[in-house]
Amino acid sequence: MKLGRNDLCWCKSGQKYKKCHEAFDDRLWALKAAGHKIPTHEMIKTPQQIEGIKESAKINIAVLDYISEHIGAGISTEEINTWVEEKTRSMGGIPATLNYNGFPKSVCTSLNNEVCHGIPSPDIILKEGDIVNVDCSTIYNGYFSDSSRMFCIGKISPEKKRLVEVAKESLNVGLKAVKPWTCLGDMSAAVNDYVKENGYTVVREIGGHGCGIEFHEEPWVGYTFSRGSGVIMAPGMVFTIEPMINMGKADIYQDEENGWTIYTEDGLPSAQWEIEIAVTEDGAEILSY
Ligand code: MF3
Ligand code: CO
Repeated sequence: MKLGRNDLCWCKSGQKYKKCHEAFDDRLWALKAAGHKIPTHEMIKTPQQIEGIKESAKINIAVLDYISEHIGAGISTEEINTWVEEKTRSMGGIPATLNYNGFPKSVCTSLNNEVCHGIPSPDIILKEGDIVNVDCSTIYNGYFSDSSRMFCIGKISPEKKRLVEVAKESLNVGLKAVKPWTCLGDMSAAVNDYVKENGYTVVREIGGHGCGIEFHEEPWVGYTFSRGSGVIMAPGMVFTIEPMINMGKADIYQDEENGWTIYTEDGLPSAQWEIEIAVTEDGAEILSY
């Protein structure tokens, strides 16, 4: 149903539709008529909502900064969990993973051949040569932020170093491909091509997601979409870019005992960085990293 031009805009800005999202909707409907998938209103955040997400991201970034200053050999992943818990709460936030679908901890810590969703434990002690992803997500004032970084413990092998670098670079490739009114698949394909060119593979089953009002929102951000496919990226959309890059094959499996941790099928290392971004009028803005 099309709103009247003098009706209040659906985005609740309080402005008339004609002054607010009418031209935006017209542009999307034209793309829809041309056969594209277009975002729902839920996927479009208002400037106030994006401000709220940024406030949440301030905590998210501070927690990861704190970890980067203290992580090292001899630290258990349980200690990382405690830091996340304490630092997040001291800034007024709530760790988003805690009790999320039954996840038992406040952060995910995934080492070496673990792809993601590793569960912190006092028994897992970081040692020289390990690479570890710390995936941190925060709720503040009802807004969600989500980002992750890789940490290299002491001296690591050149192979692992390259993997970690390519995983990081792939985010920049993805970020550059976020252009409003183009398809999400253009971004996914850019990331996938870059990873393949470097001799690695991208995990197919798990990816990024809309984020902000809920932890995981639409759209799902996979890396096997082809160019010209996937939802149109419109200004105001907020999602994560978080490709998981495997040194060997893309295949993965889930830990049967804990029901969470994902491993590489071939036992080779995997690396992942995650950023949360907002689509803008001329590209993308990083909200959390
Ligand atoms: N931060 C992870 C993500 O990027 C969280 C996964 S949910 C969990 O979506 F429960 F496993 F933590
Ligand atoms: Co995420």
